[in-house]
Amino acid sequence: MGFVGVLTAGGDCPGLNAAIRGVVTRLTAAGKGVVGIESGWEGLMGGTTRPLTRDDVRGVLGRGGTILGTSRRDPYVHGDGFDSVREAIERLDIECVVVIGGDGSLRTAAQLQTDGLPVIGVPKTIDNDIGHTDVSLGFHTAVQIVVDAIDRLTTTAESHNRIMVVEVMGRTAGWIAYAAGMAGGAEAILIPEVDVDFEELARRIETRHGHGHDYSVVVVAEGTPGPSGSVSSTGPDPYGFNRIGGVSESVATRLERLTGFEARPVILGYLQRGGSPTAFDRILGSRFGLAAASLALDGQSGMMVALHGDEIATVDLAVAVGEPRHLDPARLQEASWFFA
Ligand code: F6P
Repeated sequence: MGFVGVLTAGGDCPGLNAAIRGVVTRLTAAGKGVVGIESGWEGLMGGTTRPLTRDDVRGVLGRGGTILGTSRRDPYVHGDGFDSVREAIERLDIECVVVIGGDGSLRTAAQLQTDGLPVIGVPKTIDNDIGHTDVSLGFHTAVQIVVDAIDRLTTTAESHNRIMVVEVMGRTAGWIAYAAGMAGGAEAILIPEVDVDFEELARRIETRHGHGHDYSVVVVAEGTPGPSGSVSSTGPDPYGFNRIGGVSESVATRLERLTGFEARPVILGYLQRGGSPTAFDRILGSRFGLAAASLALDGQSGMMVALHGDEIATVDLAVAVGEPRHLDPARLQEASWFFA
């Protein structure tokens, strides 16, 4: 009888340990052995693995990060594809791998499935941009962290009569900016899906300030093109992954110039991914983990677990990674009723 592997790959997020715990609890209860693969795909590419028992996942439910570690190392980018993991798969007698990953890691998983490694996907990313699931693991916690930050930034913006430009994560999708901006009562939400007219935004802020509200909070997703028309980036990381961020600085400068009001950029960065998951993400991670393990026990693969309404569903992994989830501009239109 073979083993089931489990790994977390790509950027971390709150709730990963809940998902690992769900996978291990369900599989070990069925007498199935579980191999914990460390640092994402790296663990199968000559890296480290370790057996995981029920005892190994006690006390981790509320802990942030991932007990397995993670990385952006990819067998197709930094190795020879399936051949890079073949030796470890055969040596450890792994019959299936549960991949708790974002869009990039799940795309890799779908390719490995095609090339001969059975996989089951669990969608996680604070960006919430994975298709065919209503929500990804980690998003809920990130939004709560940003709302708490906006609440704090609002009082200091108000005290100083400033425009506070709050930059949040979201490479190609504006889910965090939209949800946190709406919940935090922002005056403007700038997202990659919708072109920004900075002159119009400045006029709107001037009008608002003219009516006695002398401060504004503007939330901007990191992947939104700035006033220059391009996405702000600091170049590739050691894995070749483009590091984006910094748009709030050019947005603040432009708004200050256009309105004459003092503006300050605030980049929330990794705060959004750290710390303990909300109750929602603890439950979602647990349910996703249990469902992924059940699929493995049924001998199924090439699937991704998903949330549809209140129910845990399974969808085709290749289809899900082929159709990223973007925010419908109508949602921003609806939120704009409050931008005054
Ligand atoms: O993909 C999730 C994400 O949090 C993005 O929003 C962000 O741009 C990126 O990860 C940062 O990743 P890293 O940890 O590699 O800097």
